[in-house]
Parts: sequence; C-alpha cells; structure tokens
Amino acid sequence: MQKEDTDILLEMAHDIQDTYGYIPEKEIAELAEKLSESRATIYGALEFYSMFYTEPTGKYIIRICDSISCYMNNSNEVLEAVQDYLKLEAGETSDDKLFTLEVVECLGHCGEGPVMMVDDRLHTQISPGRAVEILSKLH
Ligand code: FES
Repeated sequence: MQKEDTDILLEMAHDIQDTYGYIPEKEIAELAEKLSESRATIYGALEFYSMFYTEPTGKYIIRICDSISCYMNNSNEVLEAVQDYLKLEAGETSDDKLFTLEVVECLGHCGEGPVMMVDDRLHTQISPGRAVEILSKLH
C-alpha cells in the first residue's frame, strides 16, 4: 500500500471509528473497494495501529501499562485488582459492554508508574485500590 493510500486509510478509519466506536466489517469492505485493496490488506493495516478496533469495544477502554518501569512499580498488582473487579482478562470486553480491558506497552510516563488510562485520561502512580475506585465511578 502506497503511503498516500495509507494516509487516506487512516483518515477514513478515524472517521468511521468516531461514528461506530469500531470499524465494522461492511466499512472494511468499502475501504477495500475505495482503495482498490483486498480486505485482508485493510485488516492488516488497521491491526498494525493499536488505536483501531475491528470489534465493538466497551464504553470505556481501560489500558494498563506493563512495560518495564511500570512493571517494576507493581503494575501487575494494579492489573490483578482491575481484572478481579471487572471480572475480565486483558483483551476482553464486559458482557454489559461497559469496559474493555487492555494491557499495553509504555504510555510515555515511565517515571510516574504504574500508569492506567481510562479512554484518554491518564492516571499515574496508581495503586490497586485507587484503580478500582476510579472504575467504580464509571457507569
Ligand atoms: S513503562 Fe509504563 S508508562 Fe512507560
């Protein structure tokens, strides 16, 4: 895929995801047709970028960093507390479609770990109890 086509794809994909919250199969087919690419190529390109989802996500996307600095500051304890509270494993969405939980690589705040993001909001130096408290306020 040419760089210009990739740029067009990314722009259109952002618009689609803003509309649906993810990129549905029918939209992938349309992207493939518009860009004269196979569906597999479009899927592959979208999956390369972690900000795109090809399945419906929860209302809130919870991201917990487990890269080395956060890990050294016990991010695993935060993750365990969140998993227990939400009854989810990493990569899963709750049945009520409220939460999607992801374990991610460095979020760029390594000196303030452990770090958790709720959608676009960053929470630093988070404890397991504080993480659960934040999630308990989301509806
Ligand atoms: S290691 Fe977690 S934010 Fe960088």
